Amino acid sequence: MIVVKKIGSESIPQVQELATITWAVAYASILPPEQLSYMLDLFYSTAALQKQMEQGHQFILAADNDETIGFASYAPKMDSLNEPEEVPAGLYRLHKIYIDPNQQGKGIGKVLLDFIIGDIRSKGATGLELNVNRYNKALQFYQKFGFAIIKEEDIDIGNGYFMNDYVMKKAIF
Ligand SMILES: CC(C)(COP(=O)(O)OP(=O)(O)OC[C@H]1O[C@@H](n2cnc3c(N)ncnc32)[C@H](O)[C@@H]1OP(=O)(O)O)[C@@H](O)C(=O)NCCC(=O)NCCS
Repeated sequence: MIVVKKIGSESIPQVQELATITWAVAYASILPPEQLSYMLDLFYSTAALQKQMEQGHQFILAADNDETIGFASYAPKMDSLNEPEEVPAGLYRLHKIYIDPNQQGKGIGKVLLDFIIGDIRSKGATGLELNVNRYNKALQFYQKFGFAIIKEEDIDIGNGYFMNDYVMKKAIF
């Protein structure tokens, strides 16, 4: 039986282990290997994950009989220097969603997304936004769940690397 639970910094090693496995498969044909390890370190080092948790990112794990098979994180969207317009009330961001490559296509992504939407809806969410690489097959997963592309973004992440993303959004009622 699949169980979803909220986690804290005690579960950082499990998130890191699963991120390393899923990223290697998901981005092998999209990103050069050096950029992949640069981004893994940038977003999944212990210090980076701890900081995200301190900033209010809620991390969740999906487990099947104690085996960790997926994780996700989300948070209220914050004002950003790159976006001068004010963030609409109740707008959340889905920061991460990754399922073990051996477990993809079995409905676990849907279970995590439903959990997130249920949680943020109970907190008064009006929308959920995310970034996805323009060449990532996950785009179709998001479209299936009612996310629409609202713009393209090329984000400078340092070291000469860019993330070539779509921003997608779904209204929450
Ligand atoms: C994208 C991801 C989170 C989806 O999770 P999943 O467990 O594989 O997806 P599910 O089995 O829950 O799929 C739910 C529905 O979406 C559809 N779907 C999932 N991936 C799809 C894809 N790539 N293209 C089209 N439809 C897709 C499924 O067919 C299913 O439809 P159904 O309910 O009619 O059967 C997962 O495949 C993953 O971790 N991918 C690699 C990492 C990644 O890219 N993460 C997103 C970073 S932005």
